[in-house]
This record gives sequence, structure tokens and C-alpha cells, in this order.
Amino acid sequence: MNATLMKRLFRVIHFGSNADVDSLCRRIVEEQRKQGHARVAQELERILKDKPPEDIAPSTGALQRLPTSRRDSAPLVQDIPVDKLRHHMVLPDVVERRFHRIEREFAARTRLAKHGLKPRHRILLYGPPGCGKSLGAERLAWSTGLPLRKVRFDTLLSSYFGETMANLRKVFEAAQASPCALFLDECDTLARSRTVCNDVGEITRITNALLEMLESYTGDGLVIAATNIDSALDTALFRRFDEVLKVPLPGIKEISQLLKTTLSPIETDVAISWHDLSLAMDGMSGSDVVHVAQSAAKHCVLEGRQRVGDEDIRRALAEIHERHQAC
Ligand SMILES: Nc1ncnc2c1ncn2[C@@H]1O[C@H](COP(=O)(O)OP(=O)(O)O)[C@@H](O)[C@H]1O
Ligand SMILES: [Mg+2]
Repeated sequence: MNATLMKRLFRVIHFGSNADVDSLCRRIVEEQRKQGHARVAQELERILKDKPPEDIAPSTGALQRLPTSRRDSAPLVQDIPVDKLRHHMVLPDVVERRFHRIEREFAARTRLAKHGLKPRHRILLYGPPGCGKSLGAERLAWSTGLPLRKVRFDTLLSSYFGETMANLRKVFEAAQASPCALFLDECDTLARSRTVCNDVGEITRITNALLEMLESYTGDGLVIAATNIDSALDTALFRRFDEVLKVPLPGIKEISQLLKTTLSPIETDVAISWHDLSLAMDGMSGSDVVHVAQSAAKHCVLEGRQRVGDEDIRRALAEIHERHQAC
């Protein structure tokens, strides 16, 4: 086996997914065949076709070794497989088009590469809470077929000098080696964390290291960051992302659509004035709109009624207003 292949094998075993290992094994078989080692190729191929013996546990854990913290080997990320991801979103057309453009560019990455172009792959989602930033990251992972790899700030942040940076580096190295949608949700946590806040110099170092890692990321996946804070968007940060996407509060049209979609598993009264209800909810987050619709539906089911009516939704709306006033 040549040195390049051997290095790839090691990398794939250390960082790759089952599919990566499988594809590399098949390349090795081909390589052996090309070199005239027909017998070896045949034997290797037979191994690939065999079922694993019962006493060997599914090897995904070992093969998809996720990065762990240096000090206590705690997982620094959480991988969410594609089939567990949600992807239905309601967005204003202009925002929907920008999400769609990221997905189309990713799908056309090979064609783009032929012209020396790269798809947008460093994405910053920002906007008010509860409007679909985290959901947007799930959707992007789902539509690109990449596993969503959520960075776990609880294990990544360390009070030991330099450790946070080392952990962050491990996360990026792993993302570089095996394609995923690396997701830094509420990335401002990094700068606000108490563990690192005691040392202003350390915060600056971490922020700079993050910017540098973003810039040097050349992996085949996506890096997605999300923040609620507009002020986190300084120009240095802007430059490092090739898509800065505001996920805004839903407008009247989106509120109406969110209500209808959430209530679609249950019958609704034909007399409901969706427009008036949506006007009454203007300014609310997508999350609150979904909550109102779900709450109305549950109330209706518990009362043994078949159809959700205007009143059910208005009651749920009044409740959420009360809750917000109490906060
Ligand atoms: N644009 C949207 N389309 C569909 N559902 C949404 C949207 N925005 C919010 N939601 C609902 O609200 C929940 C919370 O949204 P989330 O993505 O966590 O918000 P954020 O990350 O911006 O704080 C979602 O799981 C979803 O049920
Ligand atoms: Mg979120």
C-alpha cells in the first residue's frame, strides 16, 4: 500500500464516518487489483461483503471518533444524524432564497470547482431569538446531507489556560477531516463565558483563534454559526463568513403560514380569519406562534372537539401575552 493511501486510511479510521471507511476500503481493493494482486483483492472484497461477527459491537463509535477535550476526554461535539434533523421552515421569500442559494451551491460544488469556485460554506445566522436560527442550521445540514455537528460549549470551554483554544482547534481539525455541518450555536457564548471572562486577554485570543480557524477552514462541509446579538457582528467577523444571513421575525404572511402548518394535523374551522389572527400576533417570534397554535390544538383535543376555532387560538394568544408580561 502506498504511503498516501496509508495516510488516508489512518485519517479515515480516526475521523471518518462508516461511509468514508467503506469507500476507502473499496479503493484499496481497486489498487490491489491494478497492481496485479488479484487474489488479495478478491479476499479483501470478500471481507467487505461479510457480515460482522456477532461479538463485534457496531464499530461506528470507534470509526467516527469525535473530538474530545484534552483534560477529561469529554466529547466536544454532538453529531446529529441526517434522519433526525428537522427541515420544514417558514421564511420570508427573500430569506428563503438565500438559504436555497447555499443549498444549490453546495449541490453544485463539483461543477463550481471546475471553474475554481467554492460554494458558500461559512455561514453566520443572526437575528432575534426563536425565529429559526437553530432550525435553519438543521435544515442546511438536512438539505446538504451532512450530519449536524453541534459544538458543545459546556465541554469546550475550560478555565485552564489555553485549553479552550486547544479544544476549539481539535473541533475544527475533525471537521476539516470529515465533512459535516459544524454548528456553533449561540457562538457569542464563547466570549461571554465566565470561565474565560476572568482573563480579557484570553477572550481576545480565543476570538482571534476562532476567526483564524474559520478563515483557514477548507473542509468539504459547512461551518454554521448562530447568534442573537447584532453587536457580535463586527467587521472582522463579517469578513470571515461568506454568507451573513439575518433570520428575522415572521411577517404577517409567515405568521399565517406558521399557524396553518402547525395546525395541519388537526381540522380547523373554516370561519377562522387567519389574517386578523396574524395581525394580532405581529411582532411575535416564530417559536411563540408555533407555541400558540400547539396550545390551541391541545386545548381543543382535551375538550373533545374536532375542530380548532378562532377562539382557541385567541385564548392561547392571551395566555402567552400574560406569560410575557409576567417575565
Ligand atoms: N422560521 C421558522 N419556521 C418554522 N418554525 C420556526 C421558525 N422559527 C421558529 N420556529 C419554531 O420555533 C422553534 C425554535 O426556533 P429556533 O430555531 O430554536 O430559534 P432560534 O435558534 O432563532 O432561537 C423551532 O423549533 C420551530 O418549532
Ligand atoms: Mg437557537
